[in-house]
Amino acid sequence: MTRILTGIQSTNVPHLGNILGAILPALELSKKENTESLLFIADFHALTSIKNPALIKESTMAVAAAWLAFGLDSTKTIFYRQSKVPQVSELTWYLNCYTPFPMLANAHSFKDKGERLSDVNVGLFTYPVLMAADILLYDVHKVPVGKDQMQHLEITADIAKSFNHKVGADVFVIPEAIVDDRVMLVPGIDGQKMSKSYNNFINIFLPEKELKKIVMSIVTDSKGLEESKDPSTDTIFKIFKLLGNENQTEELRQNYIKGGFGYGHAKNALLELILDNYKEQRINYNKLMTNTSALEKELAIGEAKASKIANEKLKHVRQVLGFN
Ligand code: ADP
Ligand code: TRP
Repeated sequence: MTRILTGIQSTNVPHLGNILGAILPALELSKKENTESLLFIADFHALTSIKNPALIKESTMAVAAAWLAFGLDSTKTIFYRQSKVPQVSELTWYLNCYTPFPMLANAHSFKDKGERLSDVNVGLFTYPVLMAADILLYDVHKVPVGKDQMQHLEITADIAKSFNHKVGADVFVIPEAIVDDRVMLVPGIDGQKMSKSYNNFINIFLPEKELKKIVMSIVTDSKGLEESKDPSTDTIFKIFKLLGNENQTEELRQNYIKGGFGYGHAKNALLELILDNYKEQRINYNKLMTNTSALEKELAIGEAKASKIANEKLKHVRQVLGFN
């Protein structure tokens, strides 16, 4: 039995990058035979950047609704909120005490924001240790993530190996990152990596009018309608290619090259494709968001199961460390 796990922070509504880079690959993996999957909402992690309780709550429900809208089956998957299995924070403390300071000082998540130290909270600094605890608490073998999370997975494996070595027992399973090379990084509307923190994301669940406004704001070069365009450098095309089938993508490529096809046309084609591909998911998501008590119920089932595994693991760790 292979156990897989992944989490998404509840900092906003999951965007197209989260869906293609994390949600879909994880759901695909979780359908494999002999696989047990844990999929969770990293709401403790969200607190490193968001301090608004209403936003944390709303985003937590939005992430849960997105997973379910894309087909997560809560009877087959252990689906939970990180904060409802607070055993993870106890394990984080133990791991903190086994993590060398320079390992965290070198993490991108800290270094990228570390220029003004007065703006950095300690939670952000120890963020990779909480992530390691998320994984090690459940004896996970495989962790599907986007490329940007690879370093965190290396840190997790290093912490686990060093802990096992120091205590002289195989307490933790050494996890492996699974990165889907086909997806790579989904660009945002400004051409940079799509991210909640850059505010350049496409929320596919928005009403059509608002979605259109966002798609229309994708940044392009200034080539006129008649000119031939280079699909390989254009953001609209790059996003389209990730969503369209071969024929649709080839047709758009030809239109770019032959000219007489403006970026406005390309944006409309992308909008149509999003509405068409995600018709059902858009309906499901919006239905779930109006019935959050049903969402809570689905989560509670997973939280009870996750708690059971967490308690057993913590018992073992406490024993090894002399806290039994
Ligand atoms: P964000 O950068 O928007 O804050 P998160 O850090 O919460 O996103 O990422 C959640 C998951 O989605 C991670 O597995 C991450 O690798 C993946 N992901 C985020 N942005 C992208 C993107 N632009 N392309 C592909 N995967 C992404
Ligand atoms: N740090 C991850 C991100 O921002 C979210 C996350 C938290 C996670 N804990 C995890 C992902 C454990 C995989 C496994 O994307």
